[in-house]
Amino acid sequence: MKLGLNLVGNGAHGGGWRMPDAHVGAGMDIRLWKQIARGAEAAKFHFMFMADGIAVRSSAKDEAQLSYDSRIDVFEPLTVMAALSAVTERMGYLASISTTYNEPYHVARKLASLDHVSEGRIGWNVVTSWSEQEALNFGRDSHLEHGLRYKRAEEFVDVVFALWNSWEDDAFIRDKATGQYFDPSKLHIPHHRGEHFTVRGPLNAARPVQGFPVIAQAGSSGPGQALAGRIAEIVYTMQKSRADAAAFYASVKSGFANHGRHAEHSLVMPGIMPIMGRTMQEARDRAEQLQELIHPQLGLAALIPSFGDLTGYDLDDPVPPPLADTNSVKSAHERLAKQLAGKTITIRELIHQRSASGHHVMVGTPQSIADEMEDWFVHHGCDGWNILPPYYPVPVQEVFDWLVPELQRRGLFHTSYEGTTLRDNLGLARPVHPAAR
Ligand SMILES: Cc1cc2nc3c(=O)[nH]c(=O)nc-3n(C[C@H](O)[C@H](O)[C@H](O)COP(=O)(O)O)c2cc1C
Repeated sequence: MKLGLNLVGNGAHGGGWRMPDAHVGAGMDIRLWKQIARGAEAAKFHFMFMADGIAVRSSAKDEAQLSYDSRIDVFEPLTVMAALSAVTERMGYLASISTTYNEPYHVARKLASLDHVSEGRIGWNVVTSWSEQEALNFGRDSHLEHGLRYKRAEEFVDVVFALWNSWEDDAFIRDKATGQYFDPSKLHIPHHRGEHFTVRGPLNAARPVQGFPVIAQAGSSGPGQALAGRIAEIVYTMQKSRADAAAFYASVKSGFANHGRHAEHSLVMPGIMPIMGRTMQEARDRAEQLQELIHPQLGLAALIPSFGDLTGYDLDDPVPPPLADTNSVKSAHERLAKQLAGKTITIRELIHQRSASGHHVMVGTPQSIADEMEDWFVHHGCDGWNILPPYYPVPVQEVFDWLVPELQRRGLFHTSYEGTTLRDNLGLARPVHPAAR
């Protein structure tokens, strides 16, 4: 199985940063991140994954409610990836970059440059953004509508791919004798004119080391899966049960056929938050302590996109019916509405259930968690996992020291890197330049 380490702010669990052994200020401590990157490489992780948004993202109703959120001060992913790639040799780095609040030329250039800086260890998680706050930073009053975001995303990736193909791999002949720097027959100027973008090109960077950086995609709605079917080599997803994961896996993999792709051209990697202990009791105690540290204001803010403002309610009141629709993460909203149908649970219980931003939480020993990971994996629920540690650094180190050796002992996880690039290590083919096909 493939493994990614997904680092979110000060930890993916809302109560994590308040744990007694949590490193306060972890989110922007570069020394800690370098230490984690080196540790992840020693443990043979395939990549580190940086989720991102271009705003202080929260659904909080005001600044007072926002002040309980620890996902505020975070690194810009591309700059931190450049720093981390300089202190590692094999670790891959994947970042979320929005197609809604960027221009394709910027993204093509930065990723091409980083792929050279890291010598072929970069990936792009193509996201369309989910937060209203990003719109407010980019001259809009509200977030672009879900369907439109995906239309823009489809064109955006085509422009980026065309820019990466501006130069064939051997275009730069740099012939000192003749004075000719590149072979003009190997230059392909995109001349793109579309509904959303007009981009002449070419890119002022050589073709990326990996041909294209590895492409990931994280939207799970209908248009999200359609985009994934066309371009994704890693599909990042939230799945709560083996059955749902297997259904999603089958649906994503069968979607490839429409685009002339094969199932093995991509890896489906759901997120999981392991909360571990040496014994079941220790793990349960840690999980309980984490839940108690979620401030109610933080919990209520997270429910706003699906329920509106629940301030007037008691936390032990039953959850009211969800809103009819959301312009945020549609797939997550629909899953939540389905999960709640016909059930009565309290607001407090729901806050606890959603403590991992909707990802699946596995509470247990390294052995019991490895059992569950193996079970999903062998039953075609996934090709690997994006692991979201609840806080830093202790639970990250325990993943390296306890969980990874258990997976390796079972023959489920590699014990050495297969090659030098992220593509080599993930077993993904390097895209051939269209002119060389
Ligand atoms: C597992 C997962 C991870 C995501 N990560 C990000 C992210 O890091 N940044 C971002 O702006 N959007 C992220 N998104 C949001 C998607 O890009 C998309 O905007 C949103 O999910 C709506 O698409 P959907 O309804 O197709 O899921 C993520 C979505 C999922 C399901």
